[in-house]
Amino acid sequence: MDFKGMDILGGRQFTREALDHILDVAADMDRGLKEERSLKLLDGYVLGSLFFEPSTRTRLSFETAMHRLGGSVVGFAEAGTSSVAKGESLNDTIRTVNEYVDVIAMRHPEIGSAKQAAEVSDVPVLNGGDGAGQHPTQALLDLYTIQSERGRVDGNTIALCGDLKNGRTVHAGVELYKHYDCDLIFVAPDALKMPPEITEQLREQGVEVKETPDLSVALAEADVLYMTRIQKERFDDPVEYERLKGSYVLMKGMVERTNPELTIMHPLPRINEIKSEVDELPGAAYFRQARNGVPVRMALLALVLGVVD
Ligand code: NCD
Repeated sequence: MDFKGMDILGGRQFTREALDHILDVAADMDRGLKEERSLKLLDGYVLGSLFFEPSTRTRLSFETAMHRLGGSVVGFAEAGTSSVAKGESLNDTIRTVNEYVDVIAMRHPEIGSAKQAAEVSDVPVLNGGDGAGQHPTQALLDLYTIQSERGRVDGNTIALCGDLKNGRTVHAGVELYKHYDCDLIFVAPDALKMPPEITEQLREQGVEVKETPDLSVALAEADVLYMTRIQKERFDDPVEYERLKGSYVLMKGMVERTNPELTIMHPLPRINEIKSEVDELPGAAYFRQARNGVPVRMALLALVLGVVD
């Protein structure tokens, strides 16, 4: 398949065939990493890592992925250390970095910023999160995690719980799950429901979607529970955040009593929505999920740079 030069901007751009191929290449990278520290596929290539918003996993796993492929990295982890602090526009920043590097990974608080960057960049742009919009590379590593934890993606009931209104990982994720034989359960308080246009479109496309504010429904019916953080930074009203922040708290006993086989995922960071005691459960997959960011992002970098196809 020809991924060379492709921007990775949102979950909607992928076909089932493309998704399966990315999962295969990521599995190859994973196997390669068990034998070698560096796979040397991107010797001499440079990644521009532009993070205008806080990040731990996305940035560090992108940068690790590039290093493990034998490439190198330039960039900034805080817009305050770049010329953005002097008032430079996103377009001028991207046009400049584009002259230095072979591929750009970026995160920015504005919805649509990655698409805007891709329009002015000659090198591929990988969206590491655009505000409350999309986060396709996270969605791909989530898909890879479901496959590696459950053996396959097809046949699973996947519950997404928490801030489905503002959570970009779930906005991107559902656009991938719809290509598989998966039922979806959306668990959110009324104020944080999945945007109706997304839910309606999924249903129109034949996806079975159940909506409920009740986590116990998901605990009873799901194979995979994907918890999310209430996205504090997207709230205009701090009182509203305080009201909603404790909406769901997953405890060990709840899983043990109702669904001990449950696979528990979270893009992290978690605040209070998964108690640390849950980490002891065999199905608590979130740190393995974070680890999967490296082979999946290695696959994406190698594919868009055309060194594997
Ligand atoms: C998520 C993000 O930034 O959207 N984290 C991540 O990329 N691993 C989720 C979040 O911040 O809640």
